[in-house]
Amino acid sequence: MKTFESLIGVLFGIAFATAAPAAPVAAKPAAPVAAKPAAPVAAAPAASVAAEAAVPDAAAPADAGPYADLADDAVIDIEPVPYPEGVTYRNPPPATKDEIARIGAALKALTAEIPTLDYERARFHPLHFPPMVNGASNEECLACHKEIVTHTPREASPAGVPASATMAWYQTLDTYVGPQADFHYRHMGSDFARQVMNLECTFCHKGNDPREESPDMMPGRANFTAPDTPEFTLRKMVNPSETCLLCHGAMPDPVNIMGLGGDWHEVRADMETPEAPNGCMSCHAETFRTNRHQVDYLNAANIEELARTGTSDSCFGCHGGRAWYRNAFPYPRTPWPGMDTETTPDWALNRPVASKPEHQLPPAAE
Ligand code: HEC
Ligand code: HEC
Ligand code: HEC
Ligand code: HEC
Ligand code: HEC
Repeated sequence: MKTFESLIGVLFGIAFATAAPAAPVAAKPAAPVAAKPAAPVAAAPAASVAAEAAVPDAAAPADAGPYADLADDAVIDIEPVPYPEGVTYRNPPPATKDEIARIGAALKALTAEIPTLDYERARFHPLHFPPMVNGASNEECLACHKEIVTHTPREASPAGVPASATMAWYQTLDTYVGPQADFHYRHMGSDFARQVMNLECTFCHKGNDPREESPDMMPGRANFTAPDTPEFTLRKMVNPSETCLLCHGAMPDPVNIMGLGGDWHEVRADMETPEAPNGCMSCHAETFRTNRHQVDYLNAANIEELARTGTSDSCFGCHGGRAWYRNAFPYPRTPWPGMDTETTPDWALNRPVASKPEHQLPPAAE
């Protein structure tokens, strides 16, 4: 777990690190040499019957990956995975001078205002609601909400089972590092989160409506005619269908969409070796849907680099490996070089063909 100070530094760094633009990812990285990754933090030896019951076979899924049969000190030469022709993966550009200046000025005004506010005025501060919430930076939110970066989960369940003696299935992903941590830390603070994502508070928090309870029952429009992306979501803080589901849905139909012979855990073994440990790339390196992730809340270049130097868990993690939902997000089907433009598969007929405009990256500077 990061210390409070370093995490704040990290969050502030997102906006203030203009001096050092994200290192460009080389198009063809030299073949990386990887040591067999340590098995994900194994559950501590069961301390009690209760703890044992809570981890029935925590080790089983972790053994299924392409490195399973190797000695712990085995050294692997990962075969280079090509990058697609005609697609350049970019991380979002760092904040511009103007943006940094705006955030600095807003923070200064906010810091002067906070001592004048009582609890109610702070709680209903206009930054929480449209239109101000739309352009709010992490720094402005954190001026009042530093507590969210210091939260930690319970050390033991109310029944007494230590958190260290239990393991959630998603902790067996190769990318999972460290003990269970707070939700906000796992999305904005962990090394992996910062490598692959660039989330803002306002990506998830769009502001509640303090008056209306349901976007489907509003004065001035017919019931149940809310737009697909409603202005707010009942009384929930965030709209899971437009946030969580993007990265925590089921794997998009592996048989009907991807033409695989079955579920990923059944078919991956035939596609993965220690030297080529990411089976997703056999189809997604150069052939299908290569034009992906060009949005301001993901680090597209970092994702592709990780995917070429480790196992399929780096891709699968956001596309089935941490699935809180049984359905998959209906992703936009962005045209890619070599795409068959004559026919559209039935499942794709109603799909958008571009990422949401508010999240698209600005065109690359030449
Ligand atoms: C001026 C101080 C201040 C600023 C700036 C601020 N908040 Fe708040 N916020 C509060 C207070 C006070 C509460 C009430 C906390 C409580 O009752 O525990 C609150 C509550 C919340 C809640 C919980 C709502 C609920 O009903 O439980 C969320 C989520 C939240 N804020 C998000 C944000 C986000 C995102 C931003 C930036 C866009 C932001 N806040 C900016 C002071 C602030
Ligand atoms: C990945 C989505 C996501 C991001 C990014 C995110 N939050 Fe949250 N936040 C949530 C969810 C989900 C909850 C729980 C809401 C609930 O209980 O209904 C929450 C809860 C909160 C709360 C209430 C905490 C409590 O204990 O009740 C505050 C305050 C808050 N977030 C502030 C922030 C701030 C500030 C940021 C940016 C630094 C941020 N959030 C980034 C999804 C997110
Ligand atoms: C843009 C992608 C993205 C979005 C959106 C997102 N997550 Fe995540 N989530 C991740 C990643 C990546 C991790 C793993 C982070 C790590 O390994 O450190 C994760 C981890 C988690 C964890 C595990 C935490 C732990 O300590 O083990 C939970 C729970 C979770 N997400 C819930 C949610 C919920 C609820 C939402 C919606 C409010 C949400 N996520 C939105 C990508 C996302
Ligand atoms: C046998 C080849 C193959 C493999 C292996 C494969 N995919 Fe796919 N995948 C496809 C095809 C084909 C499509 C659909 C292309 C199209 O749009 O016509 C697709 C589509 C997708 C989509 C978009 C789905 C949608 O609903 O829009 C995602 C996300 C995806 N794959 C992720 C993955 C991940 C993650 C892995 C590894 C865990 C993986 N794929 C492995 C062939 C494959
Ligand atoms: C941090 C989470 C995350 C990781 C890691 C990740 N994805 Fe995605 N992926 C997403 C999100 C979110 C979208 C939707 C983006 C959008 O709306 O444009 C997406 C979209 C896609 C699509 C549809 C793209 C389109 O526009 O047609 C494909 C295919 C895909 N991902 C495959 C992969 C593969 C292959 C990997 C590994 C190289 C991977 N993903 C890694 C979160 C992730």
